[in-house]
Amino acid sequence: MNTPLRNDTFIRALRRQPTPHTPIWIMRQAGRYLPEYNATRARAGSFLDLCKSPDYATEVTLQPLDRFALDAAILFSDILTIPDAMGLGLYFAEGEGPRFEHPLRDEQSILALKAPDPYATLRYVTDAVSQIRKALDGRVPLIGFSGSPFTLACYMIEGQGGTEFERVKTMLYSRPDLLHRVLEVNAVAVTAYLNAQIESGAQAVMLFDTWGGALAEAAYREFSLAYLQRIVAGLVRVHDGESVPVIVFTKGGGVWLEHIAAIGCDAVGLDWTVDIGSARARIGDRVALQGNLDPSVLFSPPEVIRREAARVLSSFGGGSGHVFNLGHGISRFTPPEHVAVLVDAVHEFSRAGR
Ligand code: CP3
Repeated sequence: MNTPLRNDTFIRALRRQPTPHTPIWIMRQAGRYLPEYNATRARAGSFLDLCKSPDYATEVTLQPLDRFALDAAILFSDILTIPDAMGLGLYFAEGEGPRFEHPLRDEQSILALKAPDPYATLRYVTDAVSQIRKALDGRVPLIGFSGSPFTLACYMIEGQGGTEFERVKTMLYSRPDLLHRVLEVNAVAVTAYLNAQIESGAQAVMLFDTWGGALAEAAYREFSLAYLQRIVAGLVRVHDGESVPVIVFTKGGGVWLEHIAAIGCDAVGLDWTVDIGSARARIGDRVALQGNLDPSVLFSPPEVIRREAARVLSSFGGGSGHVFNLGHGISRFTPPEHVAVLVDAVHEFSRAGR
């Protein structure tokens, strides 16, 4: 279990310790832009079949690492496994994104909501984590993840993605007691789920608060950040003698960085709308930063990708505490060769700058 890491740059950067180069991984690095991912997905049957089979999940988790010199692996799964395990019936309508058969539409279903036991209904996730750790054999660290209570609630209440959050926001202002009830159950579920991933071998964890940025500041603090803080306080922070860093990413959260950095996390994820150098000036003495290249840069030719990667690196500046990433998930229309250009440029430029 305890194979020493051959490349620990990602973990060291999260602890703000010196590294020989800036580590890089990419949100959704195992995904539809990779032909080998699409081939495995076709063999598995569907995206959900991939997630629910530890063998397939392990196979696709490793695919981007075999192609690119990435410094971390991320568990192949989805944030919506938790509401699925709560009985909401997750499915993916082709080309339409995630949906639920039984969204939370009345008080009764909200009061009946219960946090699932991660080692029972989500066993396929903890099994995948241990299997991936074994397959990695110390090559790079493994990141576990979960959605934030608020982001999960958006999908659970709306029943699908791509809305303007009419239902969630109506509940937030007119029945805050009901939304708090959902968020409380979600926070308990996420804490247990992430701790189970850590106990199964995840060496860092990330919380995806994809929709927190859609809220007004007071609502963000009360309905999203407060629950993130509760989760961070409840996580196992040392496992197998190693500290387990926690990354918090609120998409659209650039205006609230000081508040996010104050909840006890080790690192803050940045989307591409903020300048990473300014973010560092604001919170870099407290946390590491992860990000934040605009994913659309990867549609451009190699020289543009190299220029924009250099821009992010030089904006961050010298010293430790930076994990390079995109500001959000990679697009399915990205040419894979462009990812190689980015990974190599980040390593080359940051080595030269040490
Ligand atoms: O980063 C990684 O490589 C790990 C895997 C991962 C996936 N989803 C795989 C995935 C992670 C970390 C996620 C998180 C996730 N899932 C989020 C939060 C991150 C973010 O993007 O802000 C959200 C909001 C979801 C919910 C979800 N799952 C959406 C909106 C979609 C896209 C639907 C579509 O058709 O575009 C998914 C599906 C999904 N999750 C895919 C992958 C690789 C594509 C599924 C496929 O193969 O069809």
